[in-house]
Amino acid sequence: MPREARGTRDSLCGSRLPRVLCEWFPLRALLPPRPVTIEDVQKLAITWFGHSTFLLRTPGGKRLLFDPWLRENPSCPESMKKPPKADVILVSHGHGDHMDDLVLCARDSGAVVVAMYELCEWLARKGIQNVAPMNRGGSQQVAGLTITMTDARHSSGYIEGGQTVYMGEAAGFVIRLEDQRTIYFAGDTALFGDMQLIGERYKPEIALLPIGDRFTMDPIDAARACAMLGVRQVVPMHWGTFPVLTGKPDELKRLVEPKGIQVLELKPGETAE
Ligand code: NI
Ligand code: MN
Repeated sequence: MPREARGTRDSLCGSRLPRVLCEWFPLRALLPPRPVTIEDVQKLAITWFGHSTFLLRTPGGKRLLFDPWLRENPSCPESMKKPPKADVILVSHGHGDHMDDLVLCARDSGAVVVAMYELCEWLARKGIQNVAPMNRGGSQQVAGLTITMTDARHSSGYIEGGQTVYMGEAAGFVIRLEDQRTIYFAGDTALFGDMQLIGERYKPEIALLPIGDRFTMDPIDAARACAMLGVRQVVPMHWGTFPVLTGKPDELKRLVEPKGIQVLELKPGETAE
């Protein structure tokens, strides 16, 4: 859709008033604040369940659930604690705050689970057969989308019955949508230099990045990640769930908005579209 045709502040200026007048008179200042929107990515919707759990609806209508953690997730609204409908479930690593509700959601939805090889093996032992295992650097077609598993700097053990189960290593994902645009979901990670490579190779437009600090990068490193990835929009995650996750979207905004990168700050339960 052309920029002028959308219901934004730009469209009001572009369609009804001569450009010269728009530039001379700051019409934007009189208009209400812009709602949370994903620029130019048509019919893409991102819903945040709190922490790192997201449901992404693609332009082709596929529903991708990321890192399902609902029942014990302090940020997840009560009305959203039931497993959502999903076509694909993507799991970045084996920590409970990313997969405690994985078996529940996989059983309920029948969705194919995309995750690290060892994590899929564990899932198969739980009776979940609809899995699409992979490893970092590889891509596969799932539900008409190209899903690439990327590096992440983090650990990936799952605590079960007092034992730590090896779940392979932590990862991120790049998803190529039906309209060829790409989104990067970083999972839990430290900042790493190869984010530059992810930017060059896949050219993501939107990144979902952890900012909470302590267990992942903080807003300062997330701002550097945005620059390396070359994204135009960033959705902060893994913040606000617990007091120890101290990184805040405002810190990220202060660092990236002067560079023209938009922070899509969501409240738990909210959808950006
Ligand atoms: Ni983790
Ligand atoms: Mn985590």
